[in-house]
Amino acid sequence: MVALLCCATGVAGAQTRTVWDGVYTDAQADRGSAAFGRSCAGCHTLGTQGRSPLAGDVFWKSFSQKTAGDLLEFVSLNMPNGAPASLNAATYADIVAAMLKANGLPAGASELGATTVAGVQIVPKDGNTELPANALVRVVGCLTRTGAEWTVTQATAPERAERAQAAGQNATRPLGSRTMALKFVLTRLDTWAGARVLVNGLLIGNGGADGINVTTVNRVAEKCP
Ligand code: HEC
Repeated sequence: MVALLCCATGVAGAQTRTVWDGVYTDAQADRGSAAFGRSCAGCHTLGTQGRSPLAGDVFWKSFSQKTAGDLLEFVSLNMPNGAPASLNAATYADIVAAMLKANGLPAGASELGATTVAGVQIVPKDGNTELPANALVRVVGCLTRTGAEWTVTQATAPERAERAQAAGQNATRPLGSRTMALKFVLTRLDTWAGARVLVNGLLIGNGGADGINVTTVNRVAEKCP
């Protein structure tokens, strides 16, 4: 029997690699840190303090539950601010290696590159897979009124909203077992009670323990689940 280990991304079969598996080399991180000094250090530090730091809380808050590929893509397409995509691909990969090292992630035997990082998950050491507070997420579930409050029940685990998604998927995808409170809802939802909805918003508390600060609610199917 083949064990299906995966999950939200729909990748089945292969064990998920993470940034704890040694996905860059020390030599690469050294090159990356020199390149960082030339191209990034005017605005950022690789430490946890100072001007726009890229290590520590900031790193985990922005990038946990994304992939090293997402990080490489973000940096390649947006940085240096004002001159995006101005460095070559190998240099961007080196800089990301330096960022991983600065965040306490271990080096390994092979270098990080665009083809190797795509599926490498960024997860904290304790393996916590909850997204941090204030992450912009989407959740699909059943719109339910509980007293004066709206909640989504049978909800999927929150996913980063910027993650691409196949069109129409939300109407049919399997739901989860969470109940999440919807906070600061500005639109009237009454006519959608009991429908399957897609909620976008910011997590309140780690993992959305205290709910979602709602940006949008969209009905994706009339009946739920
Ligand atoms: C001229 C100043 C400047 C330079 C140079 C620069 N950045 Fe940035 N960087 C910014 C600003 C401003 C932001 C915040 C912009 C935003 O979030 O949209 C940012 C955001 C980031 C982020 C996201 C941080 C987060 O918490 O989401 C990363 C990662 C990053 N920069 C990496 C780099 C790297 C790597 C380089 C060098 C290749 C670089 N930056 C060069 C100004 C700069």
